[in-house]
Amino acid sequence: MLRGNRELWLAFLAMVLITGVYGLAIFLAREIPPAGELFGHGMGIVGFIFMLMTETLYSLRKRSRSVKWGRMSTWLQFHIFTGIVGPYMVLLHTSWKFNGIAGATTLLTVIIVFSGFIGRYIFTRIPRTMDGLELESALSQEALKHARRLLALWHTVHIPIGMALFVSAFVHIGAALYYATFLK
Ligand code: HEM
Ligand code: HEM
Repeated sequence: MLRGNRELWLAFLAMVLITGVYGLAIFLAREIPPAGELFGHGMGIVGFIFMLMTETLYSLRKRSRSVKWGRMSTWLQFHIFTGIVGPYMVLLHTSWKFNGIAGATTLLTVIIVFSGFIGRYIFTRIPRTMDGLELESALSQEALKHARRLLALWHTVHIPIGMALFVSAFVHIGAALYYATFLK
């Protein structure tokens, strides 16, 4: 499970393409795309949808007992892809200003992506089948126990950060739409 780094390469490629489009937008408009106008706003919305997918889809698949659509490993790869590309688009949405709750939301976003990389590292220490079940392994039982405990500890940090992030994102979105869009 999570053999190779395919999802990381795909995310990198997507980021290069998105950077190209962003560069083109700057070139054509001769300004950094403002967060509240068509391009910057679009980046925020699409990036946020990716982040919502990251927050929900893998967990739903992990907990679904009856319907088993697709391998867990594929869903985790997709989680990582959208968990990198979504935040990157949101970063380009900010127009590089980080005031108030929107700035705090950006900080939480950076923290969760960073935490995701740590989680991915610990996760790959535990040998599994393609469907996510842990394998009895050649690793010593002690090392395996240690890795499992570390992953459990990581979950107790990563999940609340994700929740705080979405609460703060919804406050930002509500306030931004109210003040910057509807009251214009
Ligand atoms: C996690 C997701 C998001 C983050 C981290 C984020 C972050 C930010 C940041 C840092 C700014 C600049 C604030 C400043 O001027 O100092 C901003 C502006 C803005 N955001 Fe977001 N944003 C997110 C998602 C969204 C979404 C989904 C929408 C719309 C549905 C949105 C709408 C806006 C608008 C309209 C502005 C411009 C506000 C203004 O011109 O004063 N944001 N955002
Ligand atoms: C917007 C960014 C992200 C959010 C909101 C997010 C959210 C979550 C949540 C809620 C879980 C718990 C899933 C569950 O057990 O039900 C999770 C697990 C995980 N995430 Fe993320 N994540 C993000 C980005 C990332 C990134 C960038 C990576 C890797 C580079 C990553 C790697 C992982 C791993 C390895 C797990 C553990 C899977 C497991 O134990 O089954 N995440 N994430």
